Amino acid sequence: MSNSGIPLDDLNQTQTISQTPFDIPVRRDLEWDFSQVERQFVEGDIFLSYLYAAFSCGATPIESFFIKSLKPTLDSIVGDDKLKRDVDAMIKQEALHSSTHRKFNNRLKELGYDIDGATQYFDNKLKEMVAGFTPIDQLGFVSAAEHGLYSFAMILLNDRAMQAQIHPQARRLFVWHFMEEAEHGAVSHDQYRYFMGNAYSHRMKTALRASQHVFNLVDGALDIFAEGFGHSRSVKNRIALLKYQWATPGIYRQMAVRMAEYMSPSYKLTFGHENTSLIQKYEKEIYAPQNLVV
Ligand SMILES: [Fe+2]
Ligand SMILES: [Fe+2]
Repeated sequence: MSNSGIPLDDLNQTQTISQTPFDIPVRRDLEWDFSQVERQFVEGDIFLSYLYAAFSCGATPIESFFIKSLKPTLDSIVGDDKLKRDVDAMIKQEALHSSTHRKFNNRLKELGYDIDGATQYFDNKLKEMVAGFTPIDQLGFVSAAEHGLYSFAMILLNDRAMQAQIHPQARRLFVWHFMEEAEHGAVSHDQYRYFMGNAYSHRMKTALRASQHVFNLVDGALDIFAEGFGHSRSVKNRIALLKYQWATPGIYRQMAVRMAEYMSPSYKLTFGHENTSLIQKYEKEIYAPQNLVV
């Protein structure tokens, strides 16, 4: 089954700032089952499960925040239908990410994770992070944050060993979400460029604000989950977490490198054939369990 990949050659590509060489699909037909997910759903130290629980719990308020930030400028896009379609599809994808992670988070809640406490924490932090920002500043912030998410997506999609550590039902959620992050990886930056062009100092200001908070943001939620289970981080937990985040596979280290690329004056996201074939490969895998049932 394939929903993606209408070549841009077939679209009216005159006068578009879009860097996405296909129309972004909105997949509403996926079925989810998280019933077999247990409290420890990532192999290795228990804090790795708390880490992925924090990613999932954060996805719901963060994606809602992205949508709120992207919508106010959508109607001001004039004369670029492709960009408008991209932004509209991205917002629809993000809304589905938010609601699907909520389903997964409900399963985590059944298992004892303090999802309500962590969600409240994310909501408060997001308000602090964009305090004093105008809608255009917020758009710059989302563009940078989306690049961070795109970076995480590409790291996970290109690392089968990382994926294999995650319980299959949770893995399918993250792979689906990150496949779509890869699909719309250029959209926020395109939307931002539509309004701001190459305003480098503004891009830096908003990207620095996003980068400054991103790692601490997730780590705060880990401790909420740990405390809820009566844990505090032991030295062993700290080492395992640091190793996973900064050494092997080193998500944060790899994300930091990609964020530095975003901050270079000449940053541009280019979609190659390898990106589109990666997306198509994962799309087949995500639909495979459903096709067995149908
Ligand atoms: Fe998303
Ligand atoms: Fe996104």
